[in-house]
Amino acid sequence: MRILLYTGKGGVGKTSVAAATALRCADLGYRTVVVSTDAAHSLADSFDIKIGNEPLEIAPRLKGQEIDILHQMERYWGTVQNWLSTVLAWRGIDELIADETSILPGMDELASLLQIVYLYDSNAYDVIIVDCAPTGETLRFLSLPEVAKWYLSHIFPV
Ligand SMILES: Nc1ncnc2c1ncn2[C@@H]1O[C@H](COP(=O)(O)OP(=O)(O)OP(=O)(O)O)[C@@H](O)[C@H]1O
Ligand SMILES: [Mg+2]
Repeated sequence: MRILLYTGKGGVGKTSVAAATALRCADLGYRTVVVSTDAAHSLADSFDIKIGNEPLEIAPRLKGQEIDILHQMERYWGTVQNWLSTVLAWRGIDELIADETSILPGMDELASLLQIVYLYDSNAYDVIIVDCAPTGETLRFLSLPEVAKWYLSHIFPV
């Protein structure tokens, strides 16, 4: 099983190459899913079809998915977020601001990583192709586990 990441500067051809590679992998007989983690999705444009938040069949053995951060957050983070915003609201912070504050920095990156883990664990694919956002955002995305570890180990003891 392979996970292929396509990243690079804005507009260099990540999405086009990710889409072409996905088609080629499916043609070669691999069960393939191509996932866009760039909030400004354009994977659907490359295939000239509509792709949603759940993996959708594009061709035989090929599925595509454009990760919807808000949907993923609700799915994976909803319970914690509700709890956090209730605590903040209880501390006297306006409910709307409490709602916004409870979305911690890095949560969108985490939502994308969790979705890739979910696809990997499903054992339904031989190849997962990730059409990433431009380099800067992707470096944050890939370094999130390290950064989160640092925060947790420093904040939790306190
Ligand atoms: N090999 C290529 N030769 C010429 N033009 C290309 C090539 N690959 C992609 N393009 C064109 O370059 C433009 C940007 O391509 P694409 O959207 O794949 O890049 P991207 O890196 O995903 O961009 P973004 O950073 O905005 O996500 C598109 O108009 C695409 O058709
Ligand atoms: Mg792109």
